[in-house]
Amino acid sequence: MQAVEIKQGIYWVGAIDWSMRSFHGYQTGRGTTYNAYLIIDDKITLIDTVKEAFAPELLARIKSVIDPSKIDYIVSSHVEPDHSGAIPFMLEHAPQARVITTLPNGEKGLTGRYGQLPLQGVKAGDSLNIGSRTLQFVPTPMLHWPDSMVTYCPEEKILFSNDAFGEHLASSGRYDDEVDYGTLLFECQKYYANILMLYGRQAQTALKALSGLEINLIATGHGVIWRKHIKDIMACYEKWSAGEMEERAVVVFDSMWHSTEKMARAVAEGFAQRGIAVGFYDIKENHMSDIVTDLMTAKYLAVGSPTINNQMMPTIAAFLCYLKGLAPKGKKAFAFGSYGWGGQSIGQVEEELKACGCEIVLDKIRVANVPSDEDLAAIAAKMNF
Ligand code: FEO
Repeated sequence: MQAVEIKQGIYWVGAIDWSMRSFHGYQTGRGTTYNAYLIIDDKITLIDTVKEAFAPELLARIKSVIDPSKIDYIVSSHVEPDHSGAIPFMLEHAPQARVITTLPNGEKGLTGRYGQLPLQGVKAGDSLNIGSRTLQFVPTPMLHWPDSMVTYCPEEKILFSNDAFGEHLASSGRYDDEVDYGTLLFECQKYYANILMLYGRQAQTALKALSGLEINLIATGHGVIWRKHIKDIMACYEKWSAGEMEERAVVVFDSMWHSTEKMARAVAEGFAQRGIAVGFYDIKENHMSDIVTDLMTAKYLAVGSPTINNQMMPTIAAFLCYLKGLAPKGKKAFAFGSYGWGGQSIGQVEEELKACGCEIVLDKIRVANVPSDEDLAAIAAKMNF
């Protein structure tokens, strides 16, 4: 295991998790990386660690450059264990190192998780001279944990951004221009949608704080290091955090005997007839983390469910629960579904859409039993919002 020099005296020493397929429910089809960076200066500094299981890989990469016992500082940008998990392990190998973390939240989080550690707290505006370089700490609270921060090195013009601007993508290339750009942007959008969508306001604050910095590398906590497309990814974050949407629709449904599915097709047709592009998702065949990725920049959402045991389908309930947590802004939505008797699910879906913060633009569409050709034609005709 070798370190990768990204600037003279600065090394990527992270780990590649090729096989990771679920990040607490977020489906990560292309694996991920846990990025850590080693800065060789008067004071040797490690920016972040890796998930605990990958600690030996981190150590091996560090050892390819220096004796780990020489590390003076470990910067903990974020307490979540995919970045902090190997801190106790590293402290065994670097017993004199101090762990830099935000006050009070990083200190509280690390102590709560790992017990007493040799901590050194920092606040907004604090910096640390490590020799020929300075590390400036910029707390980014709730992006996406209370303790989160990024670190800027002005002498190198590197932003160590941790979760921000990252993506779950395992690759042998370490840079944005060494992977397929379309795949990279998709994974970045998926990451933002599933991890950061709830925190758009905090993302805007962070972008403002970073706007005056000259940056020629964004060394992220996951995925690739940005060197070619820095302006592009920052522009994406501006757009996503502002909640900008396109004239597109997402249709999500479950179906037992294809009646709600037929209605979903009629809804998709209704959007298409209005020139609105549609993402069409049978919840049984698509993962919700992919659906919210598409939905993030779509203006319209239609959700369909038949009724089972007086409830909406549990699959749709899970999707709406997930969506409510992500708190999308400004979606125009409606509910639809077929039913045998009762038909409570459609009203339940409508109520959940309201709870998600959606504006209901069309009264719920209910069809008993099997929709006729007339019922289906009427759906498209109703969609005149
Ligand atoms: Fe990559 Fe929020 O941890």
